[in-house]
Amino acid sequence: MALQQREISVSEFFTKNRHLLGFDNPKRALLTTVKEAVDNSLDACEDAGILPEVWVEVEQTSAEDRFQVRVRDNGPGIVQEQIPRIFGKLLYGSKFHRLKMSRGQQGIGISAAGMYGHLTTGQPITIISRTAPAEPAHFYQIVIDTKQNEPKILRVQEVEWQPEQGTQVQIELEGIYQRGKWSVDEYLEQTATANPHVTMHYAAPDGKKRDFRRVSSELPAEPKEIKPHPHGIELGILIKMLQETRSRTLKTFLQNDFCRVSSRSALQICELAGLYENARPKRIATKNAQKLLKAIRNTKLRNPPMDCIAPIEPELIKAGMRKEFKADFYTAITRKPTVYRGIPFVIEAGLAYGGALKQETCAKLMRFANRVPLLYNSGAGVIKQAIASANWKQYGIEQSNGSLPAGPLLILVHMASPWVPFTSESKEAIACYPKIEKEIVLALQECTRPLRRFLRQKQRNIEERRKHKYIEKYIPHIGVALQEILQFSDGEREHVIENLSVVLQKSRAG
Ligand SMILES: Nc1ncnc2c1ncn2[C@@H]1O[C@H](COP(=O)(O)OP(=O)(O)O)[C@@H](O)[C@H]1O
Ligand SMILES: [Mg+2]
Repeated sequence: MALQQREISVSEFFTKNRHLLGFDNPKRALLTTVKEAVDNSLDACEDAGILPEVWVEVEQTSAEDRFQVRVRDNGPGIVQEQIPRIFGKLLYGSKFHRLKMSRGQQGIGISAAGMYGHLTTGQPITIISRTAPAEPAHFYQIVIDTKQNEPKILRVQEVEWQPEQGTQVQIELEGIYQRGKWSVDEYLEQTATANPHVTMHYAAPDGKKRDFRRVSSELPAEPKEIKPHPHGIELGILIKMLQETRSRTLKTFLQNDFCRVSSRSALQICELAGLYENARPKRIATKNAQKLLKAIRNTKLRNPPMDCIAPIEPELIKAGMRKEFKADFYTAITRKPTVYRGIPFVIEAGLAYGGALKQETCAKLMRFANRVPLLYNSGAGVIKQAIASANWKQYGIEQSNGSLPAGPLLILVHMASPWVPFTSESKEAIACYPKIEKEIVLALQECTRPLRRFLRQKQRNIEERRKHKYIEKYIPHIGVALQEILQFSDGEREHVIENLSVVLQKSRAG
């Protein structure tokens, strides 16, 4: 037995459990690969204050089920030393340890895609990156040594490359290409909706090209990085923070390593926990960490600062929906920031109705987390739960119990937060925190009010038109009847008919 015990590296773990990362079938693997690369490009551009432009090419290679995915951006590029670890090591990234709103957060996306590609085709991931026009472009071919979870560089060289700056990632993988639901096309369409400041060019395997052009040339406000709020902390993390802190006393640790802890509340926490304010953080035993956590939770603190969230904002949500979907009516709202488990978040919602949207038994639902479309598993998670539990019938929209409402309706829900609580690593559904669900329900209610007004007005217009048509039909008969009773000439009869028609027209115009 003892001989069989061996450490498992994260890469080995995720090779076996690739479904956890979104590589459970070939169609989805293709989508996930594109998504990971595009999400990274958008994050990198926005971090560097660059309006993103992204080129996505998916090309069939030799066999029917083999594809070459190439994603290039005009972003800041990647410094040479970082390239191998970013693309050849799982759980390596710049975003996990900071609390800042971004698309990626675990440092597992792009390297996992490269690993899947290598696993299914034997081909390495290929990267070209340049950080400035004056710098050379670097070309890398990398695979992951899964036993060690370390990069193995197959080739590295300086190359001629036309773009002045940016990164290109190329992965060959086994996949299936289909349009429609859960496709690369749908992902790009939805990304364009929630990111009206982004331009994307897409070349599909069937040779079709599609451009998604930006309708806003303003970058979203840069979300601020924040320190964790004490009320959101769990015991394990607290212990780790105590071990790793640079602060020398418990009091300064509380003040410096968290947000919203004043000198007064730090003292209050120490006192409540029965711990000495000058205690060395590294010396605090697990039992005392538990006491500390309890004291933290029982101390009133201000809510975390909210400038760490950059919502899309209603005008741009509407512009994004208008750009991709032709409807008769659009509305959108952004809720005020609030917190779950000490972490700030904002819910936004948008509705579009009628026009080219099809009359379906289920509305079209678009879910987003930090501007990233969540395509898979739409039946799970807090967004579906909130929509199903909202009372749509009271707003004149059909809905069978526990499901999405019906009609030519598009529902968009966006959660923005420095830490989105996904239900799994493949980031497809948001966990059901009651606080989050409540915000979504309120956001939808706010959106359905103007929709109801629109639908009522529409109903009134239909009704009125019907009545007008009816009267219009009878006006000539009235003319004839009056002629008979009052002995008009034919000319007078026509005159009366004309006058009545004018009155009717006027009433419609009014
Ligand atoms: N196109 C790119 N341009 C610049 N930096 C990138 C790009 N792609 C990835 N990176 C860097 O590589 C890191 C790891 O990416 P990834 O494995 O997708 O994890 P995550 O996005 O969750 O951090 C990112 O945090 C980012 O710093
Ligand atoms: Mg990523």
